[in-house]
Amino acid sequence: MKKIAILGYGTVGSGVAEVIDTNRTQIEALLGEPIEIKYILDLRDFPGDRYESAVVKDFSVIVNDPEVYLVAETMGGSHPAYDFSLSALKAGKSVVTSNKEVVAKFGKQLLAAAKEHGVRYLFEASVGGGIPIIRPMIDSLAGNRICSVTGILNGTTNYILGEMANGKDFASALSEAQQKGFAEKDPTADVDGVDAKRKICILAAIAFGKIYSEEDVNSVGIREIDLTDTEILRGIGAKIKLIGWVRREENGLSMGVAPCVAPSGHPLYSVDGVYNGILVRANALGDVMFYGSGAGKLPTASAVVSDIMEVFANPEKPQALQFLPGQKNDLCDPDAIPGNYYLRTQLTTDSLDCKEIAPGAYIVHGVSRARLVSAFPDAVIYQVL
Ligand code: HSE
Repeated sequence: MKKIAILGYGTVGSGVAEVIDTNRTQIEALLGEPIEIKYILDLRDFPGDRYESAVVKDFSVIVNDPEVYLVAETMGGSHPAYDFSLSALKAGKSVVTSNKEVVAKFGKQLLAAAKEHGVRYLFEASVGGGIPIIRPMIDSLAGNRICSVTGILNGTTNYILGEMANGKDFASALSEAQQKGFAEKDPTADVDGVDAKRKICILAAIAFGKIYSEEDVNSVGIREIDLTDTEILRGIGAKIKLIGWVRREENGLSMGVAPCVAPSGHPLYSVDGVYNGILVRANALGDVMFYGSGAGKLPTASAVVSDIMEVFANPEKPQALQFLPGQKNDLCDPDAIPGNYYLRTQLTTDSLDCKEIAPGAYIVHGVSRARLVSAFPDAVIYQVL
């Protein structure tokens, strides 16, 4: 019998209990032993819930109980989630998490603590909700050199953008996403691109071995998107998507989060609603795309439960992954790299290689954003994927 504790009985934590209970027969058959949720840490009471009697309010009960083999951290936020995770690892308990904020900010320390104490720290649910992406990148692509990762990494904003493309206003689309349980506690992290930035930092650390500080990576969210542009782009069969990317360039890694235009032929064009899509380019494999539910209770819980099962199956797998600290000067300026852009301006575009797609709106080829910004201070500019 393996006993676990769940930290936080919100959307994801309650989903973890639900997935374990729903699929218990299969899970226990695969593990070869029963699994028990011994504790749930939450400050609230849950009268009538089947885990009512497992709820504790004091983390020390969990960390001091030698029967607790693994802790599933689904609290969200940096603190106390980081502190509890570190204490659990130091107490010889493996930790699995859905918390991208903690992985992006403290993954280095937590991986090191797991290694030191001979336990595991896994975070499949921290990127892409239920999509298997972390372990496939670490294990299945191990023989490749990764060239780039480009993804729709935030379900809330993808849902909102889809609704806006159909003419709905931003505020009601956001409120729907919140009601459906996709959004962060504070939805500004979704809307301003910070959640996607944390996820691309995690993917960059897996792809390129170094974790960059959130402050060193630029992110632009979706607040400023104007329905005029979604309308024009719909007219040419294209959509605005919030994209996180990291790519090897000649003079460093290009990395960031920004709204971009996905033309209809692009693999990310059809990733709609709360779905995420992550396109990885690897030197031996070529392109591979990971697609699935990027947020929500049961999809995210599915990834947490898969980590729980991985720990049970391979408790002593050596912790090879480490996040080395990345330096800001490893990164190049994405705005200086020539590419194709959507440009809407009232100024004349005679000097550009471009095609007008609607009055005052153009697709421009082979120019950097920096040059467009300085030549067209009035313009709306989005990179075309
Ligand atoms: N708020 C996040 C999203 C949850 O919408 O993608 C999953 O990480």
